[in-house]
This record gives sequence, C-alpha cells and structure tokens, in this order.
Amino acid sequence: MKIALISDIHGNLEAFHAVLHDIDAAGVDHLVCLGDIVGYGADPAACLDLVRERQPRVIVQGNHDAYAADERDLDAFNPLAAAATIWTRQQLGEERRQWLRDLPLHGYIEPDVMLVHASPSDPGAWEYLRFLADGALALADQPTRYCFFGHTHVPMAFRHDGERVDQLIESEYDASEGDHWLVNVGSVGQPRDGDWRAAWTLFDHDAQRIELRRIEYDIETCMLKIVGAGLPERLAERLTKGR
Ligand SMILES: [Fe+2]
Repeated sequence: MKIALISDIHGNLEAFHAVLHDIDAAGVDHLVCLGDIVGYGADPAACLDLVRERQPRVIVQGNHDAYAADERDLDAFNPLAAAATIWTRQQLGEERRQWLRDLPLHGYIEPDVMLVHASPSDPGAWEYLRFLADGALALADQPTRYCFFGHTHVPMAFRHDGERVDQLIESEYDASEGDHWLVNVGSVGQPRDGDWRAAWTLFDHDAQRIELRRIEYDIETCMLKIVGAGLPERLAERLTKGR
C-alpha cells in the first residue's frame, strides 16, 4: 500500500497543484492530510475545497485550521500569523469553518500508522518537535511503530532502535530498520528548511520505504496573490527563502 502524506498547505494553491500532480504521477493508494490547510496563503478556501474533493482517507486538524475555524483570541500567534488568520477567517465562510472545527486531532491509516499535526504526545498542545530531545520524548508516548506529523515545516525523521534515538535528515529512509519512526513529512505550501520547493512524503507500507519528494511550483503567481490580497508582504518573501 502506497500512501501520499501532505501537510501544511497553508493556502498555497500553486504549490498544492504541483504536489497533487506529482502524487498522481507516482500512483498512490491513499492520500492523507496532516493539517494546516489554511493560514498564511492567499487561497485558503480553494485549498480547503480541493482537499475535500480529493477525499483523503484521513485528515487531521492543524493549529492554523483550529484558529481559523472559530473566534478564539490570537495571543499565541506572532503578528504575521495573527494578521493572516484574521484575513483567512473572512475568506472561508461558515460551512468551511464548521468543517475545520470538526476535524479530529489524530487518526490512523493502518493499525501501526498514527497521524497527527504536531506531536503524538498531546496533539492539541501544538508542541514543536525540532530537536533530538523533543523527538525522544514524543517517541516515548507514541503507541504505534510509525507516526507522521507536520507543524514545524521541516522534513526529518526520529528513529528509535530500542536503545537510542537518532535524528535523521535524508530524502529516503529504509523504515524496516529500527523499532519506531516519527517522521515529519515537510510542508506543501511554506517550507522552512531552506528549500523553497513544495514537499510531500511517499510511504510504501509494504516495502517499508519512506521517500521525501520536492517539487518546483509557480512561486511568482503565489507571491503576487499574497501581495494582491493585502496580506503582509513578508509572507510572500519568505517563500523564496524557504523560511
Ligand atoms: Fe503549519
């Protein structure tokens, strides 16, 4: 079974189109969406509608989805994220916001494959798993052999082999090794690992192979839309740097 995992689309329709094109070319059995469909980008409604049209087997809620879905205060967000969230709320309409509110915080696509936006420890606490110690703590709570997540927009893997945890940054992993894997699938619409290209992850469950894929997309159009929508210009600039 081949599974395409996408996360952190963040309203970037150009990147999402490019990723879906690559997923279709790869030929997968299932699509999984790890949240943050909206926020930052200029096409939150179109991205949300396209996610629904593609009927992923599992969709989990991200923090930006949760904040765009209701009127909770935005103190936890930096000024850029807060400005984008207020704008996004206005674009979505009540039906889409209700759909976002109803998304679960975690799911499973196979009994041994857990799916979350931020962390398997406490998915609604929106922790950021960046460093080895973060991964080691989260792996201690992970109930399954595999868990895939997003949230930091930095693709990487934490591997537990029964004795030690390693933090790996590769484009391909032999997932038959080790006991437990906690894998960040990268961000479709706002990568932050210094590579501007859209990211998604292909997991071949039978072959136990995990592959990170990077795809170029029409970043100029995407940036023009962000500026044209009146969103902060920094949200467009950062896309070129992958930060
Ligand atoms: Fe995100």
